[in-house]
Formats: sequence, structure tokens, C-alpha cells
Amino acid sequence: MTADELRSKYIEFFKTKGHAQIQGKSLIPENDPTVLFTTAGMHPLVPYLLGEDHPAGKRLVDYQKCIRTGDIDSVGDPSHLTFFEMLGNWSLGDYFKEGAIEMSFEFLTSPQWLGIPVEKLAVTVFKGEGDVERDDESAAVWKRMGIPENRIAYLPREDNWWGPAGATGPCGPDSEMFYYVGDAPCGYDCKPGCSCGKWLEIWNDVFMQYNKDAGGNYVPLERKCVDTGMGIERTVTILNGKTSVYDTEIFAPIIAAVTAPIPGGYTYGACPDKDRSIRIISDHIRSATFILGDPKAVSPSNVGAGYVLRRLIRRAVRHGHKLGITGNWLPPIAAAVVEKFAGSYPELESGRAFIMEELEKEGRKFYETLQKGEHEFEKMLPNLLKNPKKIMSGRLAFKLYDTYGFPIELTEELAAENGMKVNREEFDEAFKKHQELSRAGGDQAFKGGLADHSEITTRYHTATHLLQKALRMVLGDHVAQKGSNITAERMRFDFSHGAPMTKEEIKKVEDIVNGAIKADLPVTVQVMSLDEAKNAGAIALFGEKYENQVKVYTMGKSPLDYFSKEVCGGPHVSHTGELGKFAIQKEQSSSAGIRRIRAVLS
Ligand code: ALA
Repeated sequence: MTADELRSKYIEFFKTKGHAQIQGKSLIPENDPTVLFTTAGMHPLVPYLLGEDHPAGKRLVDYQKCIRTGDIDSVGDPSHLTFFEMLGNWSLGDYFKEGAIEMSFEFLTSPQWLGIPVEKLAVTVFKGEGDVERDDESAAVWKRMGIPENRIAYLPREDNWWGPAGATGPCGPDSEMFYYVGDAPCGYDCKPGCSCGKWLEIWNDVFMQYNKDAGGNYVPLERKCVDTGMGIERTVTILNGKTSVYDTEIFAPIIAAVTAPIPGGYTYGACPDKDRSIRIISDHIRSATFILGDPKAVSPSNVGAGYVLRRLIRRAVRHGHKLGITGNWLPPIAAAVVEKFAGSYPELESGRAFIMEELEKEGRKFYETLQKGEHEFEKMLPNLLKNPKKIMSGRLAFKLYDTYGFPIELTEELAAENGMKVNREEFDEAFKKHQELSRAGGDQAFKGGLADHSEITTRYHTATHLLQKALRMVLGDHVAQKGSNITAERMRFDFSHGAPMTKEEIKKVEDIVNGAIKADLPVTVQVMSLDEAKNAGAIALFGEKYENQVKVYTMGKSPLDYFSKEVCGGPHVSHTGELGKFAIQKEQSSSAGIRRIRAVLS
């Protein structure tokens, strides 16, 4: 079964169970600086899991592109990926444990769907901890479905609890499904959680019961929800009897594109060391292509998501260099990715030129850096090797970073290849000092602030609507939102406008926003089709994908006599009077034709 077939089957199955298909969202989350990337299918659905109504209903299904960089250093082995696709189905206050498990079981085992033999499956449920009891309810459903007790593992919070990607958000116990990938059954004397490594997790049903708030308290949700996630790459792997995600049809054309330029030719599988580099390049360029091809694409940079992108590209270039590949070799790999995935992600096709341009540019720049940096490293090497402890000083590593743009991770890899370790503490210290010096009041949170879906971020979210409207009133209707980012301390708003704002314009915008706050306008929400929303005068984000049914937030006295009307997922405050006082702290250029405002509420 191919990934395309699996995607279609999953969506079709859940549609027959009354689920509405929704669009997967951007890889770069908006209004949630707690993470740099969308890490799971549930991520864009957080407000709905916390109680907001979804315009498409109570049962949802989709496929979502995800990036997780926590394991970036393990990429290269047979199973780790930085980019993956997640299939998911959700119940927003509809079915709970029983319904979710019954559907999971049917989809996995029914010959009409995946037809996996029950003997190959094992499951885990939450063992119970603190106030939350052992999940006997889920175990009972699994048993009723035909999973024997000896293939049900009861595991602690560490394994069977889904927590929010950021510090706060919806969470609860989960039940995970595993496939036996060993060559001989262990006689079922082992289960998931055993260290044999023969059970591969393919799907997770999360029972969202709590909201973890900023104080670390688990507040029971009024409306319990289900959030599930099935990994496409892993599931395709097991369905085709493979043991590595890289051996599936998903990666075949990408690996072919990576091996093509290797001088002298190379067949994947011939040499473990080269294969590892090929897997790293395949994964990293696939991720980079999706990041660059996203409607909210970022360019390689030294902060946030842009830094992760830069790191992915640079690491790929270095491994290409190890394989002896030269020239402008990244774009053809990206082209293979676009080719393979544009059917399911049309944004890759529309972003093709940008993807190729950025990859070529970053690839070329870094290749030059790499040659200089590696040369420097080699010059240092004889001295370094004299160190009996095999530790490279952090100061030297920082010099490579500062002078040659050599990322610390690459220095660490080079050091490791020569049996050494880098003094990371010393490097971090030097790096921090450098950052403090160069930041000079800048605004470059690397890993996000404290933001969550709490009251303060909700207030800022509402303020972005008032700000956008005020900007359009003062500067003109060409103003369109190009991005926004909220932390507990401030909001940032990017918009299209060709010139710096004057002091007077800034003052006018502030006054308009504060006027709308003072008027204490009611905030109401209606669900309608995107066309209806546009006809009603609502502003929608250009380039954003919307569902058939959207939510329209109106801030004003009535649907006709309003201040602002925007298509948006929410959440928002109920009256603008809750926002406090609005002030613009800074207005500056963000990129060509785009201005950036930093503002606070007090
Ligand atoms: N959110 C759950 C996961 O990603 C389903 O595993």
C-alpha cells in the first residue's frame, strides 16, 4: 500500500463514520510561539479541544504535515524523521474511549481497510498515577475487540500520557497501538515497553480530559475529546513488510535523486556509512522543501524556525560533501519531493520557485563556508588531537561559528568523527554573550516565550483584529496581515505596506484601537461558508487554506454595524473592553514591502 492509498483509505473510513474532512494546516503555527513547528495533527485544533466549537462539527478527520526536531541527531538511523505526515481523527465532545478504540480496531484489522492480523497487534493503556486511575475502561474495550490480556501493557505517564507540545494545553491518558516487527513472535511474553525494540508504535488514541494551565494544574475539561494520530511513514513501512521508513515507496524517488549525483555512481544499500548520509540528506531536504513550500514559509536565518531550516540544509550539504557531491545539487532533490507530494500538498507546486531559489542560495553559500571551515578545522586538528581528554574547547568551536558560520552541531559531528567532544558549556557561554551583545533590544525569541491559550494570549489575539482594521482605516485597504506572533508579553503583527509609518499614523492607529476597546464592543462568532464570509465583508488571510465552513468573528454592535469582521479560528474575548490599553512600541521593516509592528496591552 502506498502513502497515497493509505491517506485516502483513512479519510474515507472516517467519513463513513460521520467525520468531516478538514484541511491540514500550515507547518508554521500562528499565534503559538510555544513551538516553532506544527508537531502533531492536534496542534492546530487546540482551541477546539479546549471547548471552542468547530465549524465542521464534532467529528473531524484530516492529514497534517508535522515537524519534530527533538530527534534530529538520530536521523540517519532506519526510523527517525524530522518531517512526517500524521493522519488523525477527532471527537469534540462526541464519542470517547469506546468509540475511538472500536473505530481504530476496525480500521486496522478489517480486510476492507488495512487488514492487519490481530496477532501482530499489541496495545498499551495508562497504568494510573496520582489522581488519574488505571485505564481499565480502555483495556476492557480492547479485550472485547479481541486483543488478549497478555498483549495489553499498562504503562506509566512517561509512555501513556499525551501532554501539550507547549507548556500548557489539552492533555490526558492515551492508548497506543503497536505492530510486531520482529521476525519471530516473542511468544507474547513481551509487550510494548519491552526493550527488544520489536514493537513499533503506529497509532495513538488520546483521551483529552484536562487542560494543563499556566500554573501546572490539571483542570478537567467540560467537554471530553478524542485526539488520534497515525504516522503515515511508519504504517506504510509495516504494511509493506519493511523495517525502515527509508525502504518504502515514499522515499524511493528521493533517495534516487540523492544518489544520482554521487561521482562514480552508487547503489543505495552498498555501504552503511554512505547510506546513513543518504538518509540524512533525504530526510533533511524533504523537511526543508516542506518548510520552504509552506504558505507561511520562512527563509533560512539565525533564529527560530529559520534556524532549524538552515540547520537542516547545512547538515544535508555537509553530508553531500562527504559523498563527494558538488555543484548545485539540492534543487533536483527538492524537485523529487515536490513531484512526489504535490498531489496531496499543492502548495509545494505553487512554492516551487521559492523552494528552489532558497535551497540553491543557502546550499551554495554554505558550501563555500564549509570548505573554509573544514580547512580551518583540519588546521586545528593536530593540536586538538594532542588533548589527552579529547575535548575541543568551546571557544574554538565558537570561533568556527562566529568567523565561518559553522553551526555548533557540525563542529560536534566533525569532532566526533575524530573521536573528540566539544566543550558545549563553554560554547554556550560564548554564544550567549555574543547574542546579548548583538540583540540590542531586538525581538528574536529563539524558542518562544510563555505564551499559551490563556487569557492574555486570547486578549492579544483579539487585539490583532482591531489593529488590522485600524491599519486599513489609516493606511488603506492594501494592508493585509502577513503574519502574527503572540507571547504573554507582546504581540507582533506583520502586514503589507510599502513605507515606514509616520508618527502621526502610528498615533492614529493607536487611538482607533483604544477607541474600539473603550466602546467595549461585543465579540460574536458565526459559522458560514468562505464565500458567504467574503460577501459579508469578512477579511480572510490570503494564502491560508480554509474549510468549507469557517468561523467569522465580528467585533461590533451588530452583524451590519461592526468595527471588524474576520475569518478566524479564535478564541477571542467576549467584549473588547477586556483588552486594557493598547500601545505600539515599535514599527519597523520586516522584509521587502512588509512592515512589522510590536505592540503591548497593559
Ligand atoms: N497527538 C497524539 C500524537 O501525536 C495523537 O501522538
